Amino acid sequence: MRTPFIAGNWKMQLQRAAIAEFCRALRAFAADKARPAARLGIFPPFVYVQEVVEALAGSGVAVGGQTCHPAEQGAFTGEVSARMLRDVGASHVIVGHSERRQQAGETDADVRARLDAALAAGLDVIACLGETLPERKDGRTFAVVDRQLDALVSGLPGETLATRVTFAYEPVWAIGTGVTATPAQAQEVHAHLRARLAERCGAGVAARVLLQYGGSVKPDNVAELIECQDVDGALVGGASLQFSSFEAIARLGRAVAHGSNR
Ligand code: PGA
Repeated sequence: MRTPFIAGNWKMQLQRAAIAEFCRALRAFAADKARPAARLGIFPPFVYVQEVVEALAGSGVAVGGQTCHPAEQGAFTGEVSARMLRDVGASHVIVGHSERRQQAGETDADVRARLDAALAAGLDVIACLGETLPERKDGRTFAVVDRQLDALVSGLPGETLATRVTFAYEPVWAIGTGVTATPAQAQEVHAHLRARLAERCGAGVAARVLLQYGGSVKPDNVAELIECQDVDGALVGGASLQFSSFEAIARLGRAVAHGSNR
């Protein structure tokens, strides 16, 4: 069974007081033995990563950065390395979010370099991919996600993919727009990605890899998305900023028995 992974990407939002309150509530929720067995993660802005790590220490909630620089260190003003994230206690990092691809011009190769740096530093990774609206309208969704996926997995050991990398399918047209992919649309691309992973890395690995969906996930649509056979959790932006909605999503993202053991 693949245990669902529900992660909150706070982007450039929330500040100390709200973060402290959120973490107190999340700690209590994470400790609730009766809650569904989804894995939880929080991705705060860099400056708050250490604070969130400390606030959630021992809770089992993963904490990570929203990107990292591919170099270990050096003259890169304004950047943060994977090693630094690890040094302050982060366990994860997101790479290849469409906002980074679009706003910071990150190419597939740039995203792959960040993935490699993260793994080398000991961080687990959420690697994002997804098509834009024009790409979908042109019938190029599969070609685009294949190109992005291939760049991410090429040459990586299957065991690393199965145990340390989660892929987040985030159609760009659904991010922050309030427009969610239908469960059928999400499942279609997730099944395609899993088949592609099977071709590239073998069916055994593909059956274990976690595939999150992201893009306007909310308490009222998460259950039907997670019911889909190949949707193993959610990467949540806007609806992760209020504890009440993140908690509702985490409760509904119940442990659906998908695939084989991870
Ligand atoms: P959203 O963002 O939930 O606000 O659409 C998702 C994401 O960008 O990861």
